[in-house]
Amino acid sequence: MAIQRTSVPDLQEMKRLGDKITLLTAYDCLLAGLIDEAQIDLILIGDSVGMVVLGYESTVPVTLEQMVHHTQAVVSTAHRPLIIADMPFGSFEPSDEEAIRSAQHLVKVGGAQAVKVEGGNDLVRRRIGAIVQAGVPVMSHLGLTPQTTTMLGGYRVQGREASAAQQILDHARSLQAEGIFSLLLECVPAEVARAVTAELHVPVIGIGAGAECDGQALVTQDLLGLYPALPRHARQFAQLRSTISEALAEFRSEVKAQRFPAEENTFHMKAQEAAKFSR
Ligand code: KIV
Repeated sequence: MAIQRTSVPDLQEMKRLGDKITLLTAYDCLLAGLIDEAQIDLILIGDSVGMVVLGYESTVPVTLEQMVHHTQAVVSTAHRPLIIADMPFGSFEPSDEEAIRSAQHLVKVGGAQAVKVEGGNDLVRRRIGAIVQAGVPVMSHLGLTPQTTTMLGGYRVQGREASAAQQILDHARSLQAEGIFSLLLECVPAEVARAVTAELHVPVIGIGAGAECDGQALVTQDLLGLYPALPRHARQFAQLRSTISEALAEFRSEVKAQRFPAEENTFHMKAQEAAKFSR
């Protein structure tokens, strides 16, 4: 039987039933395949690829073509989760036409089923409306929006004051009116996340937004203990960094001690051919 991919109505139903939605990031086919096997509902090809994989200091330099490249890798092995590709900084702001072109490129060439767009001001809201009208499902991203951390004063919790919390709620409402299928809320107080989740009829996925959202997101490298700095909102469910370091050190010492490759790792010629060859 063909595998059923998570759909937008499935997510809506999960919100209704209180069945918590899971979202993880992926940038390559290997981890995407494992995430698929673990029956995670949503995969995000986050522009965090810039920091986690490409070594940039922020997500700002990530290009649309890099997002397409990593989306293609993820799509090749992830058949069950709904696949959402991040729209990188600069790919949607200049005009509605450019926003539609970029979103459709991520869907047509990258293979994503949906896109994520950071921000909730009037300009971003118009772009999101245009993308939705053009037929591409959009997840919004409010709270800490890493593409604009210079304006936010760094990577800090957003919406601690009542007026800032109210602005997040207002933005969430107006984005929902533009037709988004879901909202990612990053690093906001639990009180804000609770109010937004109760107010919206579309699912709200939190990352650093407390336990009362409709679902939870994590950067997979944080969860696996691969990324050196762990943000407070994340939890390491494994410590793969030390496992990998030990394996690398062991490889080195086995080669130096001439214990690798062993006989079982070695190919041989047939005796007759070897004798002919040595003559
Ligand atoms: O780019 C990303 O990885 C994100 C996370 C907050 C999930 O947007």
